[in-house]
Amino acid sequence: MAEPSARKRTLLVVEDDLGLQRQIKWCFDGYEVVTADNREAALAAVRRHEPQVVLQDLGLPPDPAGVAEGLASLQQILGLAPFTKVVVMTGNGDRDNAVKAIANGAWDFYQKPVDSEVLRLIVERAFHVAELEAETRQKREAGGVQPIEGIIAVSHEMTQLCRKIEKVAPADVSVLVLGESGTGKELLARALHLLSPRRAKRFVAINCAAIPENLLESELFGYEKGAFTGAVKTTPGKVETAEGGTLFLDEIGDMAPALQAKLLRFLQERVIERVGGRQEIPVDVRVVCATNQDLQVLIEQGRFRADLYYRIGEVTLKVPALRERRACIPVIAQHLLRRFAEQNRRPRLTFGLDALQVLENHEWPGNVRELENRVKTAVIMSDGPFISAEDLGLGASGEPGRWLNLREVRSRAEQVALRQALALAEGNISRAADLLGVTRPTLYDLMEKFGVDSPLAGGERVRAGADKNA
Ligand SMILES: Nc1ncnc2c1ncn2[C@@H]1O[C@H](COP(=O)(O)OP(=O)(O)OP(=O)(O)O)[C@@H](O)[C@H]1O
Ligand SMILES: [Mg+2]
Repeated sequence: MAEPSARKRTLLVVEDDLGLQRQIKWCFDGYEVVTADNREAALAAVRRHEPQVVLQDLGLPPDPAGVAEGLASLQQILGLAPFTKVVVMTGNGDRDNAVKAIANGAWDFYQKPVDSEVLRLIVERAFHVAELEAETRQKREAGGVQPIEGIIAVSHEMTQLCRKIEKVAPADVSVLVLGESGTGKELLARALHLLSPRRAKRFVAINCAAIPENLLESELFGYEKGAFTGAVKTTPGKVETAEGGTLFLDEIGDMAPALQAKLLRFLQERVIERVGGRQEIPVDVRVVCATNQDLQVLIEQGRFRADLYYRIGEVTLKVPALRERRACIPVIAQHLLRRFAEQNRRPRLTFGLDALQVLENHEWPGNVRELENRVKTAVIMSDGPFISAEDLGLGASGEPGRWLNLREVRSRAEQVALRQALALAEGNISRAADLLGVTRPTLYDLMEKFGVDSPLAGGERVRAGADKNA
């Protein structure tokens, strides 16, 4: 999605005079210089090398004496790569055409003959601005998809949840995070810690379901030497070690009733007693709990204390299942793919069309964790440059011949590209249209055709056709 900001500086020189081309190349020792001597070659080079800056002669063949071809080339380069800085070179004293080029989107101009010192300065400045702009774009895009670092949120529900987290984090209230397994509860609990004034202190997590009932108490509250067989030295518990920080009690629904009473007492008094100890030790921690169980049901069944429920859930956050935020799926999937593909030294690996399709259609009972596992496996299993549905362990949706219908393939690809562009553009219609290289009306038509809603745009949902004439 975001381009790396510290990319090598690539300069494309478009000049039909080969002697001059060489001379310019010498000026830019230290840059990656690619050359082209006509419009078609220039466009091919832009596609292939994505230069940040283009230095282009305005007089190109077949019309080296005029500027028509040069202006056409300029326009097409900008159409292809709108962020490119194009510096045009004109004949000596040809100010009119230089101005015309600027009016057509050139970033700057330079009048021949070549003075390497001045030319270097102009080009240097163009690179500088291009890099600054790229960095800003990157930050904006990263911020759009990751409102909180590490948390990808594209759907309306998730971006709202992230806003809630930002609001709740600095307050010292206890937070209960609810959601199915693998939805990101721990990730959000950590975000609550990192966005709080307690961030410099520890985030201590304890899984209440993973520790046998009889050990959980000493694990939580610590024990004194000799409190039980094997207690050879006084040991602080997790609550104490979280002093000043955040205590994360995962799977709180699995905590045994006797311990629930002790936890409640701690939450009321804010003091602990180690097992076998007599001394009350004050502890200052922020408590965040999580569970995938329905605590209301557990309360009705008498398995969870209602008073504890109200204590731990001063604020309750519900994390939606992945199937309830389908707009997030392709973006999280791409993010994971990039990570695992890089780890496996296969940076060019991408999802095939069938893979994107099954990603969107799968029910994801294991939520983001399942997605993570499937992408991780697929990166290892895939042979060619594309990950297939089969690599994801989801089988192809339909018989193999199905993908040979060009119209259908096109339509699916359009749909995938449309969703991704809208996600990347944070629902900004103009930007999404730019990303796809289509006009706004065309984009609206596509949204209507596929029944696609734009994700969040400035806090409001944009529906297809809602501002068609805006
Ligand atoms: N929105 C997200 N963006 C990026 N990664 C995510 C997101 N949500 C979850 N993950 C990743 O998915 C994995 C599962 O998340 P996490 O462990 O927080 O889920 P959980 O709800 O605590 O699951 P469980 O109930 O199984 O303990 C983690 O590796 C986490 O980093
Ligand atoms: Mg968890």
